[in-house]
Amino acid sequence: MAQKDYAFQQCIIPACGATCGVDEVRVACPRCGSLLDVAYAWDHLPLPRSLREFEAAWARRSDPHCFSGVWRFHRLLPFAPIEQCVTVGEGQTLLHASEGVAKYVGVKPGRLFLQYEGMNPSGSFKDNGMSAAFTHARFVNATRAACASTGNTSASLALYCSVTRLMKAVIFIGSGKISYGKLSQALDYGALTVQIAGDFDDAMARVQEVSSQLGIYLVNSVNPFRLEGQKTIMFRVLEALGWEPPDWILVPGGNLGNSSAFGKAFQELALLGLIRRIPRLAVINAAGANTLYQLHEKQGLRWNGGSPAQDAVHAFYDDMTQAGNRAKTIASAIEINRPVNLLKCLRALEVMDGVVREVSDQEILDAKAQVGAGGLGCEPASAASVAGAKRLVSEGIIGRDERVVCVLTGHQLKDPDATVAYHTTDQELFNKVLGSRGVRRAAFANRAVAVPNDIDEIIKAIHLYG
Ligand code: F0G
Repeated sequence: MAQKDYAFQQCIIPACGATCGVDEVRVACPRCGSLLDVAYAWDHLPLPRSLREFEAAWARRSDPHCFSGVWRFHRLLPFAPIEQCVTVGEGQTLLHASEGVAKYVGVKPGRLFLQYEGMNPSGSFKDNGMSAAFTHARFVNATRAACASTGNTSASLALYCSVTRLMKAVIFIGSGKISYGKLSQALDYGALTVQIAGDFDDAMARVQEVSSQLGIYLVNSVNPFRLEGQKTIMFRVLEALGWEPPDWILVPGGNLGNSSAFGKAFQELALLGLIRRIPRLAVINAAGANTLYQLHEKQGLRWNGGSPAQDAVHAFYDDMTQAGNRAKTIASAIEINRPVNLLKCLRALEVMDGVVREVSDQEILDAKAQVGAGGLGCEPASAASVAGAKRLVSEGIIGRDERVVCVLTGHQLKDPDATVAYHTTDQELFNKVLGSRGVRRAAFANRAVAVPNDIDEIIKAIHLYG
């Protein structure tokens, strides 16, 4: 039997359980319309006896599939033969222990780690998933790929298209909704960029319609193959910690693909007997885009062993439509009110005994400044994980002794406008970019010093402020 016979797609709702082939292109269950997983007949697949076996790949780094931080874990996402897996060198990322951020968050030294996904080729974690989606797209001979995006998925899609030449990219973005760092990537890599008069939620609904009408391969995280690639972020975290799971994983929540992928990763590792303990998960929403927080924490919505109260979700969305509520946050990457992976994320929260919190734009930007000062910069959305950690420590939910991993999802240069506005001395700029978001102060601003063009004045300023 070919390897593909050991992988299939399966509806996430156990009562449905419909399956379809791994060589089919679907973003929803053909029977009930819910989300799909990639599933494996693990018993028939060659599995490692211990996670340590993955370390051998380091010795073969001249092989692109061993170099890739996604494909060196191929045995844990074996939906395509390794020689067909697409890589542009994704996943060379770092787990960085940050003393400065540990202090800010309130945990003991040596307990706070930043999983820095900004080191990916397109500058965000999306490349982990894109390598897997492209592998599947090649498998099914797709020639065009589309996504709706708050900027990072589109940058990643555009990069994979331009480097691999496998497909042409069509990108849907909300009008004025993505940062220039990300827009510039899509334009530079030559993607067809369609700006919709609306926000991300509008663009997401449209791209699904258009893709199915025109037969374009959809690479948003409703595509279950993308999430297979994103599982490897957790494998690398474990690897960096000597395969000993941390106590907590914190991740910003937008479309909820990452959190869903993390839950699946740990569920599978536990099932396969490769870990003995599953870390807890905290998904952090921006307060201006807090659907998951509202449903999980305020309304008590749970996965409920595979029977979530879906009516509650529909009612919540109907209310949102009637009230004309739109997502609004400086963390534009997670400015999303209708997360497509909501149900999968509920499952992840159940598997990982998770919690959800919301943080304000003020908390996000202060946390971001602390991350920057600690050595690794990140974009605003990423800092939600750190702001969320601070909150959970102050609530006593995360203990000061616990080992905490915050995922930094995107690079600092993705959104320089927010950073410059935070550190600026120009009150007008501050008010324009941040004041309108309810940000009142920049407690950790590192202000530029204005000096006359005069050598003595410059030296005086360095003595005074240096
Ligand atoms: N952080 C960053 C930097 C992101 O770009 C995103 C999502 C998230 C967090 C949220 O991750 O969707 O898995 O919950 N960006 C998507 C995009 C929506 O289009 O680039 P999620």
